[in-house]
Amino acid sequence: MTLEQIAELESQTLMSTYERLPLLAVRGEGCFLFDAAGKKYLDFLGGLAVNALGYNHHEMMTVLRDESETLLHVSNLIYHRFQAPLAQKLAVLSGLDRVFFANTGSEAVEGAMKLARAYARRAEAGSERFVILALENSFHGRTLGALSATWPEKYRKPFEPLVPGVEFVRANDLDQLKQKFSECVAAILVEVIQGEGGVVELEREFLQAAEHLARAHDALFICDEIQCGLGRTGRFFAYQKFGLQPDIVVVAKPLAGGLPLAAVLARNRVAEAFHPGLHGSTFGGGPLQCRLALKFLEIIERPGFLEHVREVGEYFRQKLLGLQEDLPVIQQVRGDGLMLAAQLAVAGKEAVQQGLQAGLIFNCTQERVLRFLPPLIVEKQDVDQFTEGLRPILQTLPAARPKGAHA
Ligand SMILES: Cc1ncc(COP(=O)(O)O)c(C=O)c1O
Repeated sequence: MTLEQIAELESQTLMSTYERLPLLAVRGEGCFLFDAAGKKYLDFLGGLAVNALGYNHHEMMTVLRDESETLLHVSNLIYHRFQAPLAQKLAVLSGLDRVFFANTGSEAVEGAMKLARAYARRAEAGSERFVILALENSFHGRTLGALSATWPEKYRKPFEPLVPGVEFVRANDLDQLKQKFSECVAAILVEVIQGEGGVVELEREFLQAAEHLARAHDALFICDEIQCGLGRTGRFFAYQKFGLQPDIVVVAKPLAGGLPLAAVLARNRVAEAFHPGLHGSTFGGGPLQCRLALKFLEIIERPGFLEHVREVGEYFRQKLLGLQEDLPVIQQVRGDGLMLAAQLAVAGKEAVQQGLQAGLIFNCTQERVLRFLPPLIVEKQDVDQFTEGLRPILQTLPAARPKGAHA
């Protein structure tokens, strides 16, 4: 079937939830995707931060083949060999103690919110301590609980009433943060770098105050590391840059190298709020995903891996800053490691379409922010190819928004 035929069939059969790019992917290799006609695309979106080791990392593929023929799935009523070692590894890397395995980011956020409420009420059922503070400009997922903590109204409004008890704080507003803390607050949930929000790094002072206020009010400090964690910034976790010590951390996206696996990590005293029956998942933490995740973590832990992310990330950032010097359409370059963005003066959709024609994949968030989440194995020559391909595309964009246009 051709791209046009597939698109037509999808338009008749799928619920209309995605605006797809006109690309029919048939094969992936390293940082490249190939379409049905054999056209090669340099992918700097990386499956939205999932394909951190590229499309066909040979060690991941070996594990995949072996485990898929050994034990594909077993229910959580039975032990398998890989959950405990994976939990142990995640605990060591994060400084936390215990793990609950889920499948998707949203599901992990749900788990964290439930855990925070269970912990807040450990001493007194029905206590008034249930408020979850979230930040303006945040994105935590699409299920009803996670959506309640997600900022953009366009995502939330059609589904109201959402889960009650979530209150928003302006990101980096210390005064409002202090005002919002009370004895009703069970937790504060933050993305150290707001991904969907346009790759916006929170300020050190604000993050440290959030952790400190949470401690002072017997509330929990939760970091959503679903997009910025697991090596993306050149550290295992983005919060480590600021010396933060969260009570709960949620991870997902790249954990099992392309298969769904998410995790809620928590301190012992917090994790104790869960007991059998209080939470669960049919698929969460299956043997295939857990074994893949063990291999993924083993690879990113190898000497030089995270240094590579930092080095190539900085190289890429400098290249983007170079483009900014030449092209006034770029207003700001943001991000850390291999989570980078270029804020444009105009809408970025056109650039994404043109990129595709030129064999480059990236996306646009917040209307005017080009976001780059390449595989962590990307090399400097890939960055050169990408930025050289991006330059003529950005050159064709008007330097500023035409009068009266609302991009
Ligand atoms: C920071 C963050 N949290 C949560 C989610 C939701 O993850 P999922 O789409 O796997 O449910 C995302 C997805 O992009 C995310 O970036």
